[in-house]
Amino acid sequence: MKNDLILRAARGEKVERTPVWLMRQAGRVLPEYRKVRSKMGGFKELVETPEFACEVTIQPVDAFDVDAAIIFSDILVIPEAMGLPYQMIEAKGPWFEKTIKTKEDILQLRIAQPEDLQYVIDAIKLTKKELNGRVPLIGFAGAPWTIFSYMIEGSGSKTFSKAKKFLYTQPNLAHLLLQKITDSTINYMKGQVAAGADMLQLFDSWAGALSPSQYDEFALKYISQICDAFKEVPFTVFAKDAHFARRKMGLLNCDTIGLDWTMDIAESREMIGNTKTLQGNMDPCLLYSDNDTIKREAIKMLQQFGPHRHIANLGHGLYPDLEVDKVKLFVDTIKEYRF
Ligand code: CP3
Repeated sequence: MKNDLILRAARGEKVERTPVWLMRQAGRVLPEYRKVRSKMGGFKELVETPEFACEVTIQPVDAFDVDAAIIFSDILVIPEAMGLPYQMIEAKGPWFEKTIKTKEDILQLRIAQPEDLQYVIDAIKLTKKELNGRVPLIGFAGAPWTIFSYMIEGSGSKTFSKAKKFLYTQPNLAHLLLQKITDSTINYMKGQVAAGADMLQLFDSWAGALSPSQYDEFALKYISQICDAFKEVPFTVFAKDAHFARRKMGLLNCDTIGLDWTMDIAESREMIGNTKTLQGNMDPCLLYSDNDTIKREAIKMLQQFGPHRHIANLGHGLYPDLEVDKVKLFVDTIKEYRF
């Protein structure tokens, strides 16, 4: 590996500078992505065609010179592999025609195997070959609670009231489904590692919808099983808005915890402890600012995290209307800084 900064930072080893990559670095912010995308029938075709998935995975490595690539896919491939196909509706987002309502619905779901997601496995193999050791390749999956929400709600939601109603009224069935998602996710991520993924990240995008005790019972329990299953490669858990879970996340069997921009850096370090690398956590909206502000805030963030156990990133994904030059300036500022 020519550039293994991010792997060393995740393991808590010494680094010459802070590594950086960006959530949603591949995607609509890049004109070259939009060009490939417009040739395709839709988002799913892009995800399911390894040559194209590989091409758009590498685009941000070329455009921004980031220290990692993340395989171009989506967290929703897991519900689909289990038996609930999704559609990506233009300008609206994901939509599931069938959702989970009853015990029978849950019993009918398959536990996904890596072969059910062969297109992702093939995309990882191809991308590893094309990257040729330039930077590490990150594999990922959605965390069980976030995937559960999509399977119950059928789409994104403001309140997650259907998914939460399920937790309150049918907790045993909720656990049955969460365990099936967890087993599928472990199988899938094992397949990603076998195909060459150098690092893994779990996205719990809807963590903030739960209370602390619900988060323990219905989310952390399963995240913890997943973390325990991976010793081979560094593992990151990113739970958006999960302020209340930070102390417990410090006890997970993983290497890195992702922070969003609403989490105070020093307070998070105190809560999570010194045995984890922290990833994040700039507000993506900073990148709408003028250049001086972007540079100043990026450096301030680096200084707050300090020189050890930090992987620079945003606190959530890039927005499609951000300018490429501003994104590049943020990455360059991080890469030029020395402690
Ligand atoms: O660059 C990368 O980060 C890798 C690719 C990636 C995508 N989705 C591609 C994508 C990753 C890691 C994801 C994860 C994902 N998908 C999450 C977790 C991270 C988060 O943002 O909280 C979630 C919740 C999803 C579900 C999802 N996929 C939504 C809600 C949407 C629609 C919103 C939108 O941005 O349009 C998607 C679509 C999607 N996934 C796009 C991309 C590039 C846009 C699709 C397009 O090109 O039209």
